[in-house]
Amino acid sequence: MTDPRDNIILTGFMGTGKTTVGRLLAARLGRDFVDSDDLIVARAGKPITDIFRDDGEERFRAWEADAVATLAGQRGLVIATGGRLMLDAANATALGATGPVFCLAASAGEILARVAASGVARPLLAGDDIAGRIDTLLRQRAVGYARFRPVATDGRTPAAVAEAIATALTAGLRDTLTVRHPGGQYDVVVGEGLLPEAAALSPGPAVIITDSDVGPRHAARLGPLPVLTMPAGERHKTLDTVRDLYDGLLATGLGRDGTVIGLGGGVAGDVAGFVAATYLRGVAFALCPTSLLAMVDASIGGKTGVDLPQGKNLVGAFAQPRGVLADVGTLATLPAAEFTAGLAEVAKHGLIADPLLWQRLVMEEWQIDPARLAGDRLRRADLQSLLVQAVRVKRDVVEEDPYERGRRAVLNLGHTFGHAIEQVSGYAVRHGDAVAIGLAAAARLSAALEECSPSLPHLVEMTLAHLGLPTHIPPTLDPVALFAAMSTDKKKRAGRLRFVLLHDIGNVFIRDDVPAAAVVDVLAGLGARD
Ligand SMILES: NC(=O)c1ccc[n+]([C@@H]2O[C@H](COP(=O)([O-])OP(=O)(O)OC[C@H]3O[C@@H](n4cnc5c(N)ncnc54)[C@H](O)[C@@H]3O)[C@@H](O)[C@H]2O)c1
Ligand SMILES: [Zn+2]
Repeated sequence: MTDPRDNIILTGFMGTGKTTVGRLLAARLGRDFVDSDDLIVARAGKPITDIFRDDGEERFRAWEADAVATLAGQRGLVIATGGRLMLDAANATALGATGPVFCLAASAGEILARVAASGVARPLLAGDDIAGRIDTLLRQRAVGYARFRPVATDGRTPAAVAEAIATALTAGLRDTLTVRHPGGQYDVVVGEGLLPEAAALSPGPAVIITDSDVGPRHAARLGPLPVLTMPAGERHKTLDTVRDLYDGLLATGLGRDGTVIGLGGGVAGDVAGFVAATYLRGVAFALCPTSLLAMVDASIGGKTGVDLPQGKNLVGAFAQPRGVLADVGTLATLPAAEFTAGLAEVAKHGLIADPLLWQRLVMEEWQIDPARLAGDRLRRADLQSLLVQAVRVKRDVVEEDPYERGRRAVLNLGHTFGHAIEQVSGYAVRHGDAVAIGLAAAARLSAALEECSPSLPHLVEMTLAHLGLPTHIPPTLDPVALFAAMSTDKKKRAGRLRFVLLHDIGNVFIRDDVPAAAVVDVLAGLGARD
């Protein structure tokens, strides 16, 4: 439940019903309602159309900033904002710090119908081809609005929209994405304060499997459950660790009706899932991912497993969790370098299927100090919306191809190079960092094979650098050894090199006949910093 001192802020395009919904919501919650445009009209002493006509848009934006300063100083309000107000970074920071922000969404057709029906003059929509103008403006603003919690309004009454917002507030502003698989379905829940709900995912006894970095920080929040702790780090993603965990589970007496709860990053999750898939021929498991990477990637899709000395993830099983709880609050203890590494998989998801997600990575600032998340509500909300976007990409791909017989292989974008870098470095290079270099390599290879524009590699590398990610192979790694490691990667088929390549951002494909010489060239080019 939201703190009654928080403001509740509504944004969105004109005609999405911010004012009507805001009034209803305020009445429903017993709060005062303020419309930023009303405040401006009262202060300026004239209607908004007159401000635009007499003083220009710039002066109107100054009035908006003025209104924001006032409203940010108040508490417990429902605030409807002008359609562009929250797209201004300073306004968003000031108001977003005072409470949750909802973005009312509607299709261009519905907006046109509502604006026409209202009969109110809209300065931004003067002139011909209003439908076209709306469409263009919606596209331009899509990236800016994406950070706020969306509320669909098409085909819903304002009362129903207000009710949906009230329900979201009561439920603690969490996002739920359902993942369907051949054996059923499970929910991925993204939100704050979720860890205490993990035990409820298990109908019978439960045991937590975690690692030595995460367990001491977060396991207690799941309640009084037995905890088995593996040493942290990719080096321990091994069969030896698995054997120790079997011993531990037997010692706790966990039976076939039991549930393993994997708590931690991708390593703890992959290991816990594999242990659950094989212990007593398989027990149920749930995942509580605590790294950015595990939240957007490793915890979704049912791949579990461990590494062998010969390579990454060479032993494993497909096994679906009972549920996934991504508690954004746990990220506050994640080391900054691990946070950045996780952004590589977010970027990968943007490159695979979501140009809007990619745009957010380009346009917003993601070099975040996780330790400061606890005190920064807007950042946490931004992050949650980014996580949801990235999870959706993975969800859609794994639903289409749960056992990686076809399309799912696109999720390996950057991973053939990445796995080789991890392995040859003796896992000194983090998975996410290796994937970032792999994404740069995949873009270069795509350009070399004339599958994408020659400018794409530069764009990809600039964005990865903007995220704080590496784009070049560390000089200590021998290109010959890297090429050899790639040739034994399990994604190789019938002696030919198989790569996921890019046509464009959001448009990837698989090519089975990549010439070795092109790969060797890319490795050479990425080793030499230019
Ligand atoms: N199963 C899949 O589909 C899939 C997909 C992507 C990646 N993976 C696997 O995931 C692994 C990488 O995951 P990762 O990057 O999370 O590595 P990780 O699990 O090793 O976590 C990185 C480090 O951060 C620590 N950590 C995690 N969360 C923390 C928190 N909230 N506070 C403090 N410390 C925390 C961990 O203990 C570890 O030391 C790789 O083994 C990769 O193969 C699997
Ligand atoms: Zn990965």
